[in-house]
Amino acid sequence: MIRLRVEHLTKRFGGLVANSDVTFSINAAGVSAVIGPNGAGKTTLFNMISGFSPPTEGRVFFNEQEITGLEPEEIATRGLVRTFQLTQLFQNQSVLENVMIGRHVRTKAGVIGALLRPRWVRDEERQTEQRSHELLDLVGLGAQADMLASTLPYGQQRLLEIARAMATDPQLLMLDEPAAGLNHEETEKLSQIIRRISDLGTTVLLIEHDMRLVMNTADHIVVLNFGRKIAEGSPSHIQADKDVIEAYLGGTEMLDA
Ligand SMILES: Nc1ncnc2c1ncn2[C@@H]1O[C@H](COP(=O)(O)OP(=O)(O)O)[C@@H](O)[C@H]1O
Ligand SMILES: [Mg+2]
Repeated sequence: MIRLRVEHLTKRFGGLVANSDVTFSINAAGVSAVIGPNGAGKTTLFNMISGFSPPTEGRVFFNEQEITGLEPEEIATRGLVRTFQLTQLFQNQSVLENVMIGRHVRTKAGVIGALLRPRWVRDEERQTEQRSHELLDLVGLGAQADMLASTLPYGQQRLLEIARAMATDPQLLMLDEPAAGLNHEETEKLSQIIRRISDLGTTVLLIEHDMRLVMNTADHIVVLNFGRKIAEGSPSHIQADKDVIEAYLGGTEMLDA
């Protein structure tokens, strides 16, 4: 089953072409990655898919339904969420609260419910809290639930962001450079978490610079260079691709990881 399909996606910023005629699809099963040198257009591609920046041309299909031009919130409600290259946590709230916030896409209680607190609202709150604890366990932050988000070390903040995105019950989770700033050990742990999320049934699509993480974690890789797709396939196929090696000119050691 195809989870995501993008057709002829193009993004222009004035004269600059950030993405040009990008077409690919992502299977529901497994982990996929978008790689490419800095400035290749990876984040711009994510922005177009997740509704943060409409494409200049082209179309986006999620579960075979067109979502081109929809608002990010509508897209998240349908089951596609993304994290950002830089962490965007609520620093003054607890770790648990940060995950519970993500859950609000799926809860019904509004302001009135929160004020009157009928039984169904209390039940919903209890479920939200339980699910949030489960997600903290999933990313290995179960013991930190009551800490302020701002007091977590950077690597754990990035994991918290993933737990928060998972709180929306996504069918497709898109991660923009989740290993940026992580040390080797944290990156290994992240790789396992990503695999587990995939095994539990959520499609994962990540942008990543860390070639070791990509090659160890992804089943399918799309390579961008100067906004264009230059290759696509399995990790071993990508590592042997002449255009890919050229794009990483002088950076072939990146591909030996
Ligand atoms: N909002 C914007 N306005 C103008 N140019 C942009 C904007 N966002 C990205 N770009 C440009 O588009 C190109 C691709 O950027 P980006 O998608 O962030 O690359 P990557 O994530 O692969 O490093 C870069 O040249 C960048 O400067
Ligand atoms: Mg980027």
